[in-house]
Amino acid sequence: MSTTRDDANRGFLEDALRTLGTIPRSVPSKYLYDEHGSQLFEQICQLDEYYLTRTEAVILRDCADEVAERMGEGCLLIEYGSGSSTKTRILLDRAPALAAYVPIDISREFLMQSAESLSARYPSLDVRPVCADYTGDYELPKLDPAESRRVVWFPGSTIGNLTPGEATAFLAHVTVVAGHGGGLLIGVDLHKDARTLEAAYDDAQGVSAEFALNLLDRMNRELGADFRREDFGYHAAYDEREKRIEMAIVSRSDQRVRIDGREFALAAGERIRTEYSYKYTLEGFAELARGAGLDVERVWTDSESLFSVQYLVVA
Ligand code: AVJ
Repeated sequence: MSTTRDDANRGFLEDALRTLGTIPRSVPSKYLYDEHGSQLFEQICQLDEYYLTRTEAVILRDCADEVAERMGEGCLLIEYGSGSSTKTRILLDRAPALAAYVPIDISREFLMQSAESLSARYPSLDVRPVCADYTGDYELPKLDPAESRRVVWFPGSTIGNLTPGEATAFLAHVTVVAGHGGGLLIGVDLHKDARTLEAAYDDAQGVSAEFALNLLDRMNRELGADFRREDFGYHAAYDEREKRIEMAIVSRSDQRVRIDGREFALAAGERIRTEYSYKYTLEGFAELARGAGLDVERVWTDSESLFSVQYLVVA
C-alpha cells in the first residue's frame, strides 16, 4: 500500500493527540527525525560525549574480517535503517563475496543517493535498495541463484529505543526475515555508569536538547500546534533499575497548548517523554534474544566495554 503525505500527516496527528493525551505524556520517538531532526542527530553522532557512533566504528574495524567469514560467500546482507550506510562501508570493504546488499530506509531520497554512491564505490556489488519501514511488510529481491544465507545488519543500538517487549517482537520478526541458517549483526549499547550515559544524552553544547525540542517546532509546523519553545526545557536521566535513559521535554510553567482544536493543560515540571534508550548487559541481551529465537554466537566490544557488536544466529 502506498502512503501519501496527507496519510503520513494524519498518522502523526493521531499519534501525537493520543500519546500527548495519555499520562505520562509522550510522543513516539520516530517523529524526532524530520529533516532538521536528522541533521541534529548526525551532529549528536559527532559529539565528544556521544561515544556510541565512534566506538561502534572502532569495533567494526576490528571484527569485519571475522564477520565476513561468518557471512560466507553468496550472502544477502540486509541493512535496517541504512541512512547513508557510512558504517556499512567498513563491512563492505571486507566482504567481497556478497550476493547482494539490500539497504532498507524510509527516507527515499537519502536511500537512493547513498545506494548510488555505494554502487560507484563498489562496482561489482549488487545494491538493491528497498524504500520501506523495516518494521512493516516489504519484499526482498529474488536472486538467481538464490542467496546462501541472509544476514540482517542493525547498527547504532537503534534497538535501544524499543522497550524489552517491543524488542522481543522486533527480534522475532528478524528471525522470520533471516530464516533458517540466517544471522543478525547488531550494535548494542552497554549498561554503564550514569554519569557517562547522562552526558551522552545531555551534552554541553545542548545539541541533544535541541534534537528533542525540535519536535515542538515540528508539531507547530505540521500539526498547527501552538507550543512556545521558550516555555520548555529538556531532561535526560538514567534509570539504573530499568537500565534506560529517559529523555523528555519539560514544561517550565503551568500552561495550555492547543493542537487541532484539542487543549492540553501542562503543569510546571511536567514531562513529555521523547525517547527511551535502553542499555544492556551482555547477559541481559542474550536472554532477550533467546526469548525471540536467536542465539548469540559472538560478541565484540571495545577496550572499555562501552559498546558491543554482536552476531546472532536463528536458533
Ligand atoms: C538512534 C536510538 C540509537 O538512543 O542513542 C541519541 C537516539 N537520542 N541522542 C540513542 C538518540 C538522543 C539514539 N538511537
